[in-house]
Amino acid sequence: MAPIVRPRRLRSTAALRRLVSEVHLTPADLILPMFVKESLEEPAPLTGMPGVVQHTLTSLREAAREAVDAGVGGLMLFGIPTVRDERGSAADDPEGILNRALRMLRDEFGDDTVIMADLCLDEFTSHGHCGVLDEAGRVDNDATLERYASMAVAQARAGAHVLGLSGMMDGQVGVCREALDDHGFTDVVVMGYTAKYASAFYGPFREAVDSELVGDRKTYQQDPANGREAMHELDLDLAEGADIVMVKPGLPYLDVLAEVAAESPVPVWTYQVSGEYAMIEFAAAAGAIDRDRAIEESLIAFKRAGADAILTYWATEVSRWLSGGRR
Ligand code: PBG
Repeated sequence: MAPIVRPRRLRSTAALRRLVSEVHLTPADLILPMFVKESLEEPAPLTGMPGVVQHTLTSLREAAREAVDAGVGGLMLFGIPTVRDERGSAADDPEGILNRALRMLRDEFGDDTVIMADLCLDEFTSHGHCGVLDEAGRVDNDATLERYASMAVAQARAGAHVLGLSGMMDGQVGVCREALDDHGFTDVVVMGYTAKYASAFYGPFREAVDSELVGDRKTYQQDPANGREAMHELDLDLAEGADIVMVKPGLPYLDVLAEVAAESPVPVWTYQVSGEYAMIEFAAAAGAIDRDRAIEESLIAFKRAGADAILTYWATEVSRWLSGGRR
C-alpha cells in the first residue's frame, strides 16, 4: 500500500522547496510600463488601475529612478499627446511627448537601464486606431507602415534602446528594421508584439491613454480563438528580423506563450496587461484573494510557461520584494 515514489518529500521544508523550484523571478525579468501625458500639472491616478498614474515629465523621471533603483530590467514608455490628428503627427515629431520623455530618460540614465518605446499610432490618432485610415475608414496597413518607419527613426533619435512594435500591421518589423538600419541605428533593438490578441483585458489601458477609439481592433489584432496563427506570426517576425518577440495579454494566453517559447530562437516576453492588473487589485481590495501572493503566482506562471521577461505594472514593487528578501 505504501507508495515508493513520494513527490511530497521535496515539498517538506521551505529550504528544500526553494532548492528544487524550476523557475525563479528576478528584478531583471520585470519591465515597467509607464504613461506620460503632455501638459499635465500633477500625476493623475487611474481609477481602473489603482496605484498606477499618468505621469508628468517630472514625476516620470522620479518614478523611473525608483524603478531603476529597485533593479527592474527596463522601462516601457507610452505617451499621451494634447493634440491628436488623423495621421498621428505627434508620434514622430521630435517634440512630441513620447520623444521628449525618451530623450529625458536617456539623458538621465544613459545605458544604465533599458529604455523602451511603444511604437504604435493609437495614442496619437484622433480616431484612436493603431494605424491611419483609408477613404472607407479602414485601417490602411501599408500607409501605416510608412508612419511606423518614421516613428522608429524618431524614437531611435530620441534615445530608445528598444522599440516595442505593438500595432499588429503586417510587415511592421521589416519596415522598422530597414528604416533604422538606413539611418545608422543598427544597434536599436526591435521587439515585435508577435501574438497580440484583440482582448477585453486592455480595458483599463484605454483610460490610461485617454483613448478615443470607437469600435474595436479586430481587423488587425488576433482572434482569441486562434493559437496556430501565433506560430505563423512568429515565423514572419523572425524572418523580418525581430530581436525579441512578445505574447500579449499574459495569463489568458499562457498556452500561446508556452508554444512560442518552445519554438523561438530569440527571447520571448509577455505583457501582463491592464485588465490582469485590475482583476487582482480589485479582487484583493474586495478581500477575495491575497494580493501579494496572487501577484507573485501570476508572475511565476509566466516564467514557468517560458517567458524571459514580463511587462508588469507591479515591476517596481515586486523588484523591491525580491531584492529586499521579503521571505
Ligand atoms: C496599443 C497598446 C495597447 C496596450 C499596449 N499597447 C492597447 C490596445 O492594443 O488596445 C494595452 C496594454 C494594457 O492593457 O496594459 N498601442
